Amino acid sequence: MTAALVAVALTFPAQAQMPGPQQPPAASAQVNVQNVPERASARVEDLLARMTIAEKVGQLVLLSSNRAVTGPYTTPDVTGSLERGELGGIFNTYDVAFTRQLQETAVKRTRLGIPLLFGFDVLHGHRTIFPIPLGQAASFDLAAIEGAERIAGREAAAAGINWVYAPMLDVTRDPRWGRIAEGAGESPWLGGQIGAARVRGFQGERLDADDSVAACVKHFGANGAVESGRDYTAGSLSERALRETYLPPFKATVAAGVRCFMAAFNSFDGVPGVANRHLLTDILRKEWGFPGIVVSDFGAVEELVTHGVVADREEAASRALKAGTDIEMQGEAFRRDLPRLVAEGTVPMAVLDAAVRRVLMLKEALGLFDKPFGRMDEARERGTLFAPAHRQASLELAEKSLVLLKNDRRILPFPSDVRRIAVIGPLADDRADTLGPWAANGQPEDAITLAAGLRQVLPKAVVEVVSAGGVNGSSPEERAAAVAVARTADVVVLALGEKSTQSGEAASRADLGLPGDQMALARDVLAVGKPTAAVLFHGRPLALTSLVEEAPAILSAWFPGSMGGLAIARTLIGENEPRGRLPVTFPRSVGQIPLYHDHLRTGRPPTNPPRPYTASYLDESTDPLFPFGYGLSYTDFAFSPPRMAPIVKSGEPIAVAVDVTNTGRRPGTALVQLYINQPVAEASRPVKELRGFHHVALEPGETRTVTLSLKAEDLAYWHADGRWATDAGRFRVMTGANSADLQDVEFTLQH
Ligand code: BGC
Repeated sequence: MTAALVAVALTFPAQAQMPGPQQPPAASAQVNVQNVPERASARVEDLLARMTIAEKVGQLVLLSSNRAVTGPYTTPDVTGSLERGELGGIFNTYDVAFTRQLQETAVKRTRLGIPLLFGFDVLHGHRTIFPIPLGQAASFDLAAIEGAERIAGREAAAAGINWVYAPMLDVTRDPRWGRIAEGAGESPWLGGQIGAARVRGFQGERLDADDSVAACVKHFGANGAVESGRDYTAGSLSERALRETYLPPFKATVAAGVRCFMAAFNSFDGVPGVANRHLLTDILRKEWGFPGIVVSDFGAVEELVTHGVVADREEAASRALKAGTDIEMQGEAFRRDLPRLVAEGTVPMAVLDAAVRRVLMLKEALGLFDKPFGRMDEARERGTLFAPAHRQASLELAEKSLVLLKNDRRILPFPSDVRRIAVIGPLADDRADTLGPWAANGQPEDAITLAAGLRQVLPKAVVEVVSAGGVNGSSPEERAAAVAVARTADVVVLALGEKSTQSGEAASRADLGLPGDQMALARDVLAVGKPTAAVLFHGRPLALTSLVEEAPAILSAWFPGSMGGLAIARTLIGENEPRGRLPVTFPRSVGQIPLYHDHLRTGRPPTNPPRPYTASYLDESTDPLFPFGYGLSYTDFAFSPPRMAPIVKSGEPIAVAVDVTNTGRRPGTALVQLYINQPVAEASRPVKELRGFHHVALEPGETRTVTLSLKAEDLAYWHADGRWATDAGRFRVMTGANSADLQDVEFTLQH
């Protein structure tokens, strides 16, 4: 990477400078200095005492290099700011040669020699790409997910990065939103378990180790509540919904020691993330005691003008900093306006100092003052990226993330002596689509596609690939050619779904069916009558109602990452048993959205068939296509009802036992799921909420007892007087195979 790359002209979007509607200036002038020790280390305090205002503000400036493009703006002059010592961090940059060159400028050629933060979006791997986060969540395997982030963090650190914009913790119940791919699905509790595992993986045991990176959870607080499933739209919800649905994953990562929060683009209760003092200061710092840094999302400080909550850029800078935003990612507000605002006293020096102190403390915790080049070692970089052990971990997690949605007549697994196999469809052999939407430094040429995976596991078979057009359509001739190949095959795999660009940021969809007319291709090929399995590539739940009616077998592969095609191929021929379960509900149609397992009760529950004056549709069932927690295996499992003590004293452990039997003919791994419900409470409680799960591997005919534990805090909810509490009284515990296939038991909690 050459220096020319960073010497980019200073241009900034007209859009960000347009005056918004006139609004009164932000009211709050309170100083935001909570949870920064009054004095940090002597080194940090000494630096702070010697810094000019411009140098201090510089620590709050984060600019993108053009190495990767993750937003709409061109990059201002990075080099000039860097050389003046007025730049705290650079993002979208990686590799040792390039980051060292930048770090050398910061450390050796600026007045105070303060090292840089290097940030990057490492959402599902850095160079070794793992399944998309939603797919990883389907594994329900916290150790494997933590392991994946350890590897992702190690690879990122080996490439010079010390800060990752991950994990993404947005709970969402709207699959139209493309960013559902980046999160852990619809359960706030599962989101917290997975979020904490991811943070532990990235940050390791010591943050200053050369293979650790600081995690930055995002997008705080209710980005997942975007209206209509469109990116960047407002989150209109109550304080209870915020507390109970959107914030729990974030809170769980504070307990896990996360070092950074990214404020959301969108507004909660009319106030955008970066200006939301309620979220950033009252909740995050005062209530939760978070001592780390808060960074804005890309250009979000200037977007306060477009939101209409400040009149101009200057006011945006002042309001964001005072609300609790420490660093502006990609923008001009802090760097251009804060020096003057501080000098004239509009922004108190104490507010600036608190933010700078937090940034310097993070740099110190990362070991950057003592070892600014610790993560910059070419030999380590070469030996770490895409290392064999990393590929193996990616393969294993991809295998665990696959969800078998349908398997009529036990078409799968295919016999391993199959001689001719046809792989038909637009996703059969596409490397970039195998990696998925936020593939960081993943190289498409590294990816094993479905076709390549089948060739690898069936070396003696003829594997014929027909892409039959693209995701959006196939011509009659292309379909005829696909049918001709299907006729000659022993078994057929239909590779259908979304392109990776149809999921992720800025990839909302209003239709959740298979894109284009893929169903026409599927129908023609299914009509041939060969044993046919559909493999789906997708970043969100799809409304697959027709495919589910017509295809005998369906395997959900999400976007499975570097080794994805091999994981799928091994599963199709039974070398791997599918064990993934859906971390999100699949609707039958878009009109049912939002549809999720932990919805509130109603005075008139829907009935089946629908009766008038109930919470039903005239023209659609209220049932999902596939419920949360659903997934089949190649074997079958039977679950006993749950057993537990009828009376439990608060503070005592709550143990719930379930017997699970493998009633089929193949070994397999069951996932026992546990849900709770409080039948009577101060406010109506969700019909069921996931609170536990446990895998159990069983040989055919084998039975094992699984004991799951609950804590009183798992039963708590947000009370009207503004606090979390657990009521004494009756609770229902439900256990079983998925959220729609449960048996229950009641107990009484005594205080
Ligand atoms: C996204 C963030 C990301 C940032 C930097 C934004 O557009 O919302 O998730 O971290 O870009 O790439």
